[in-house]
Amino acid sequence: MKKNISIFLALLLTALISILFSGCKREEGALKFNHRLHVMENEMACSDCHEIADDGKMQDPTMDKCSECHDIDLDHPSEDCLQCHSLKSAQNDYSVEEAMVEKPKSYEDVIFTHDVHEGVECDTCHEGLNEDESLNDIKWPEMTTCRQCHNGDEAPSECETCHRRLRKDVPPASHHGDWAEHHGFDSRFDKTCLYCHDSKAFCQDCHQTKKPRDHIFNWKTTQHGQDATHDRRLCAVCHPASYCSDCHRSQKPVSHARADWMAYTKENGHAEAARHNFRSCNVCHSTSDCNECHQNIILRHKR
Ligand code: HEC
Ligand code: HEC
Ligand code: HEC
Ligand code: HEC
Ligand code: HEC
Ligand code: HEC
Ligand code: HEC
Ligand code: HEC
Ligand code: HEC
Ligand code: HEC
Ligand code: HEC
Ligand code: HEC
Repeated sequence: MKKNISIFLALLLTALISILFSGCKREEGALKFNHRLHVMENEMACSDCHEIADDGKMQDPTMDKCSECHDIDLDHPSEDCLQCHSLKSAQNDYSVEEAMVEKPKSYEDVIFTHDVHEGVECDTCHEGLNEDESLNDIKWPEMTTCRQCHNGDEAPSECETCHRRLRKDVPPASHHGDWAEHHGFDSRFDKTCLYCHDSKAFCQDCHQTKKPRDHIFNWKTTQHGQDATHDRRLCAVCHPASYCSDCHRSQKPVSHARADWMAYTKENGHAEAARHNFRSCNVCHSTSDCNECHQNIILRHKR
């Protein structure tokens, strides 16, 4: 026992030193494993290591499985143990924590068992896992994968089939307070909106009638141009491009109403305005508009 402890301490020391010199690599989970190497290069089947237990859970292999090919001398812990165990687990007397492969938060609500899906290829749901070189790379199936079969035809599609609490007709926690005004930001990163709002019409119908907060009284005359120059994609959420160009063809800016707009040499004249900011004319005019009077004006046509 005493001998084991001194070996263990020596092991810790060498491991610490090697970590110091390897530039502090990120510590993986409690266990290191490379699926690609075993499945692709050594042609092992998923079922060689994972079997369905009585509770329907897929089991992870024990160390005995690894011993079939790897020399593991349990009585003599050494650096060799770190091939599979992390330094942290070695420090912890090789205690192996469960569920070190993190699942996305959305899985907390998901109901799933492997036994009803026996016979379905692992790859159908764990696509690409056979190429993973680290347990940290593992990706979990997305709902769209389940929906390939759970379409109400081959298998049930009701939310309660797979979700404990989440329901289509119950607004989620995000929808509190002034959600009606703040959902835009979230919707850009969250593709799950359409899991519940299953048609884009739900979004678009409202966007045709409800104006954003920034559309205040001077919106048309002074403000919207600046905002549109900043980021036009936001306008496209609610307005098709024709909405802008139709109006621009008929409504003149304030500048055009000035008495000396056509007095070409004056500071407030159109020539000076064009020289000052040629691109702004582009928003509403094409070259042909100018060339009703000119011969050599070229406006880039861009709408
Ligand atoms: C040589 C053995 C071996 C083979 C073959 C193998 N795995 Fe694994 N697999 C492991 C080990 C070891 C882990 C990590 C277990 C742990 O975290 O305790 C793991 C983890 C996983 C996980 C992460 C979940 C978890 O409990 O950690 C999934 C999912 C998985 N394997 C699926 C597969 C699939 C699908 C295949 C076939 C493409 C496959 N495995 C082939 C040994 C294997
Ligand atoms: C059927 C034989 C076989 C079994 C069973 C097996 N391995 Fe391997 N393992 C290999 C081979 C072959 C290599 C490549 C050895 C080399 O390149 O030096 C390897 C390499 C590894 C490596 C080094 C990977 C790398 O990226 O350098 C780790 C870690 C590993 N195995 C973990 C495990 C674990 C954990 C288990 C048990 C869940 C296991 N192996 C079961 C054959 C096996
Ligand atoms: C080839 C990979 C590999 C090597 C090398 C390895 N282990 Fe393990 N070890 C595993 C796997 C896989 C498990 C099971 C993980 C789990 O339970 O989730 C495990 C589990 C353990 C456990 C938990 C109890 C058990 O038996 O399941 C102890 C203790 C342990 N290992 C000690 C060691 C020691 C000491 C060494 C070095 C002599 C060593 N291991 C080398 C892969 C390995
Ligand atoms: C129908 C889709 C599907 C198929 C087919 C499938 N899995 Fe899974 N697997 C999942 C989902 C979903 C989870 C996550 C379950 C959870 O935690 O809620 C999972 C989890 C796992 C886990 C982690 C342990 C667990 O049960 O949580 C392992 C290991 C695993 N699968 C291996 C396999 C292997 C090996 C096969 C092929 C024999 C396979 N799976 C086939 C969808 C599937
Ligand atoms: C290859 C097709 C297929 C895929 C992919 C698939 N399932 Fe299934 N699933 C089935 C079938 C078939 C049944 C059995 C339906 C029945 O008994 O009526 C089933 C049953 C279930 C059940 C049990 C339903 C019940 O009424 O008890 C759950 C839960 C489930 N699946 C969840 C999932 C989840 C979650 C995913 C995605 C990770 C998924 N399934 C992916 C085909 C599939
Ligand atoms: C066959 C199984 C299955 C069915 C049926 C199903 N889901 Fe899912 N759902 C999942 C899985 C698996 C996830 C986790 C993976 C993901 O986020 O894509 C998920 C995730 C979600 C999320 C994201 C949750 C979050 O926290 O990010 C929403 C929202 C959702 N589902 C809504 C629904 C609604 C609404 C229904 C019913 C119309 C439904 N789901 C039916 C399997 C299913
Ligand atoms: C779990 C289901 C679910 C998800 C996921 C979901 N919603 Fe909703 N949402 C609802 C329900 C239920 C309502 C209220 C009923 C209705 O108006 O149809 C609602 C209402 C709304 C409203 C109207 C609010 C009001 O005050 O009138 C907006 C806007 C909205 N959702 C946007 C989104 C966006 C954007 C996302 C994605 C980031 C999203 N929703 C994700 C279920 C969901
Ligand atoms: C109840 C009416 C309503 C519904 C339904 C609605 N929106 Fe909106 N949306 C608005 C309003 C109002 C704004 C402007 C908020 C503001 O800036 O004042 C907006 C703004 C946006 C923006 C732009 C945000 C920005 O930063 O300018 C996006 C993107 C957006 N919504 C996406 C969606 C999506 C996706 C859906 C459907 C899932 C949806 N909306 C449903 C009323 C709605
Ligand atoms: C109701 C009519 C109307 C609609 C609809 C409209 N605009 Fe305008 N736009 C104007 C007027 C009028 C001006 C000139 C304001 C001023 O300077 O007096 C203008 C100016 C602009 C300018 C600034 C040009 C300059 O002088 O630098 C930009 C950029 C612009 N609009 C973009 C857009 C976009 C993008 C849309 C569609 C999302 C849009 N507009 C919709 C009437 C409209
Ligand atoms: C959330 C939806 C939404 C977004 C985002 C949005 N608008 Fe609007 N906008 C509206 C609605 C609704 C109206 C009123 C339409 C009507 O009255 O026909 C409107 C009206 C306008 C008008 C006419 C104002 C007037 O006085 O006649 C202009 C100009 C305009 N928007 C420009 C923009 C520009 C530029 C952007 C991007 C910076 C933008 N809008 C973003 C919904 C939106
Ligand atoms: C918001 C849209 C808009 C912008 C921006 C705009 N114009 Fe115009 N402009 C118009 C409209 C509409 C007319 C009238 C066209 C017609 O009657 O066919 C017009 C007419 C004119 C005329 C003819 C005289 C008149 O007042 O009818 C001149 C010259 C002119 N614009 C120059 C410019 C120059 C130079 C710029 C850039 C500095 C510019 N415009 C920017 C919309 C715009
Ligand atoms: C209604 C007739 C008319 C229209 C339409 C018109 N201009 Fe002019 N523009 C003139 C006249 C006349 C002059 C004075 C020419 C001179 O003094 O040599 C002039 C002068 C100019 C000058 C200064 C001459 C130079 O070469 O430096 C510029 C720049 C200019 N216009 C730009 C524009 C642009 C851009 C448009 C279209 C957006 C436009 N104009 C539309 C009649 C017009």
